[in-house]
Amino acid sequence: MGRWMKHTVATFRKAKEEGKKISMLTAYDYSTAGLLDAAGINGILVGDSLGNVMLGYEDTISVTMEDMIHHGAAVARGAKNALVVIDMPFMSYQASVYDAVVNAGRLMKEGRAGAVKLEGGKEVVPQIQAIVQAGIPVMAHLGLTPQSIHAFGGYKVQGKDEEAARKLIENAKEVEAAGAFAVVLECVPAPLAELVTGQVSIPTIGIGAGAGCDGQILVYQDMLGLFSDFTPKFARRYAELGVAMQEAFKSYIEDVEQGRFPAREHSYGMSDEVIGKLY
Ligand code: KIV
Repeated sequence: MGRWMKHTVATFRKAKEEGKKISMLTAYDYSTAGLLDAAGINGILVGDSLGNVMLGYEDTISVTMEDMIHHGAAVARGAKNALVVIDMPFMSYQASVYDAVVNAGRLMKEGRAGAVKLEGGKEVVPQIQAIVQAGIPVMAHLGLTPQSIHAFGGYKVQGKDEEAARKLIENAKEVEAAGAFAVVLECVPAPLAELVTGQVSIPTIGIGAGAGCDGQILVYQDMLGLFSDFTPKFARRYAELGVAMQEAFKSYIEDVEQGRFPAREHSYGMSDEVIGKLY
């Protein structure tokens, strides 16, 4: 897909048709969104992973609609070309179709999303249908769905046995039929993700799902070395910014302690005459 163009669900659809790979990363703030956008990313996900990497929770369960709107709106202000997808947080859509439509609407109106993402397959089909019917594009999310971490009993690869694999394929077809424009496949064996990709006409966006998906997404802290609570096996490190930041912080502390910062060029002056009168 082109580097300097406004990306929408239509460009995601076209990419799949033309066999072009889709690039996505997460972002949670204005400055990072601007950097991703300028680099030419196709889509930015304001993931509820912000609970882990921005707010320090051990899972995504406590993330609220207000958190998503606050961070989503900041990202939307920074992203001029990328499609901004905002996650629907835990319990903003599971309890009822009504909740799902109202909360998806808030992410569009207040968060300025271009699309919303929610987790689950068959069980959330009525929600996907209703949100899509309201004119809001939906990205689905299958495989390891972190909002169900307590039901899974931990962060584990999904779809490894025949029954689970068949269920995943079925769910991918269900969310497609419900109107989702794309589906994230998280922590799914690569051969299964490739099979699913060939069986649905909407783009699959993989994270820990191998190279056979139509696109890829990573949490940006994982690829830049900015989050050390845990490092998923699937995340390639493109930079060690955590180390670079720590070194810069240490240099600053030393400079302050030794009186080397601020220097003259970082300070504001005034006339000797005025300051002289004050002594
Ligand atoms: O919340 C998130 O960042 C996500 C991605 C891992 C796909 O859902």
